Amino acid sequence: MTLKKVLIVNKTFPAIGLEILKRKTEPFVVPFFEHEPESLPEIKKTINKGYDAVIWNTKHRLTGDILDLAGPQIKAISTMSSGTDHIDLDEVFKRGLLIGNTPHVLDNAVADITVGLIIAAARRFKEGIAEIMNNEWKYGVQWMLGQDIAGSTVGMVGLGGVGQAVVRRLKGFDVARFLFSGRSDKSEAKTLGAERVPLEQLLRESDYVLLCCPLTSETKHLINADTLKIMKKSAVLINIGRGGIVDNDALYDALKQGQIFSAGLDVVDPEPISKDHPLLSLPNCFIIPHMGSATIETRNAMATISANNILNALEGKPMVYPVTS
Ligand code: DGY
Repeated sequence: MTLKKVLIVNKTFPAIGLEILKRKTEPFVVPFFEHEPESLPEIKKTINKGYDAVIWNTKHRLTGDILDLAGPQIKAISTMSSGTDHIDLDEVFKRGLLIGNTPHVLDNAVADITVGLIIAAARRFKEGIAEIMNNEWKYGVQWMLGQDIAGSTVGMVGLGGVGQAVVRRLKGFDVARFLFSGRSDKSEAKTLGAERVPLEQLLRESDYVLLCCPLTSETKHLINADTLKIMKKSAVLINIGRGGIVDNDALYDALKQGQIFSAGLDVVDPEPISKDHPLLSLPNCFIIPHMGSATIETRNAMATISANNILNALEGKPMVYPVTS
């Protein structure tokens, strides 16, 4: 019996996932990192070699023309991510392909980094480090004052798995109120003590605004010049969703003019941003390079799910985490 062929488009795919695939398929790994210039051309060159399934473990956009190159025999795709904004889902569904992702296993890792960003942005880590590095450490009782978490109102834009894990963690910080906004109510909200409110109220009342939602046509530039104006002058904005949820220019102006206190971003648009991007010049904008799910355990779990998404689909079983239209 000939084995099904699976293409893995980025060589960082963890060995644990590859081993799972090797048990029942013939996997091939494109031998480049996604930041290497050869990466996308090589994917396009390779994908037309009759693969039955693809693990799209890259931030490159999966578009209709790439799916055309893949040929009519392709059945299934899995991302190695929770987000699917880098996949043209309409093109995938139009071709009747199965697609899966890897949600939930990253909730804890991303929630941990959210708490890190909150503390870093609220307590001015970037400015503090800069003072040390510039030999300007000047202690004083009015020096480098930040914002408290205890007694604050935390507003979650999106209360999915990550948002819920963030609330569970922040309960230990004596937050006074948790608000959330989103398309639908959440059965977990009551147990977590989170109150659903309209976005405008959340922005007006929150000391911390946490963007924990996916990037969709509804959330694109949700944070813009108008919505930033609603926020408190002392507010801290955290983005662990996707960079495109925030209008960079508007955020730059708001931070520069002290319209909000600070921002902590794990995600930006575009990624990577260049080192002379205006946001990086701001002392009150703390940016890390999309590291939310970057722990060994989490990435292994994501690889395991992607591999099993593909195996299940090729065996005619439901994917572990199917993405539906
Ligand atoms: C995801 O999986 O969507 C996270 O952003 C990590 O890439």
